[in-house]
Amino acid sequence: AAEPDLAGRHVVVSAGGTREPLDPVRFLGNRSSGKQGYALARTAAARGARVTLIAANTALPDPAGVDVVPAGTAVQLREAVLKAAADADAVVMAAAVADFRPAAYATGKIKKKDDQEPEPIVLVRNPDILAEISADRARPGQVIVGFAAETDDVLAHGRAKLVRKGCDLLVVNEVGEHRTFGAEENEAVVLAADGGETPVPHGPKEALAEIVWDLVAARLH
Ligand code: C5P
Repeated sequence: AAEPDLAGRHVVVSAGGTREPLDPVRFLGNRSSGKQGYALARTAAARGARVTLIAANTALPDPAGVDVVPAGTAVQLREAVLKAAADADAVVMAAAVADFRPAAYATGKIKKKDDQEPEPIVLVRNPDILAEISADRARPGQVIVGFAAETDDVLAHGRAKLVRKGCDLLVVNEVGEHRTFGAEENEAVVLAADGGETPVPHGPKEALAEIVWDLVAARLH
């Protein structure tokens, strides 16, 4: 059995990908499966933590002993994260949150009309949840972890993003057409605000999750 080094701790993990509705049947979404977030939730529970998993549009079984809170859109995810983070020791934002959402929601299905050009989709910015909870910590010493998917110049972009977001740890994944999203395995580097850099070799999402909790636990003690 795992060391119960997170016993007595409350951790919050977001997983999956938000869907931003255009009308009752259509949305803007992304390819996040939620597997990395679920692996984080399972491993934290195995290490003794009380876990709140905020799940955005995932199709995975609820991990045993984990409190699962569904959230569909970025705005709903923000509400759920802020509520759960109020008494959390650590928050890990593994969800792929849409940066933008449609400015308007049509209450009826958008129809195509003959001889008429389609209407452009106007977008507005979503709140940046990770930046917000990092800037305004619910508790002193709360450890906040973000994820970043980068396609090029991974370390430089990751370092800049860590500073911009203001979180303690940033897990940087290199993504490409056949990498990471929906896959069983992952390869990453975890950047720390204190300058630390932990490479994570290609391996199961559970292994990356354990390394994240090692780094979080070290910062809680
Ligand atoms: O800026 P970018 O989307 O690359 O940042 C990714 C990280 O920020 C992830 O941890 C994601 O959960 C979080 N995020 C967020 N709110 C947003 C966009 C991203 O919390 N609106």
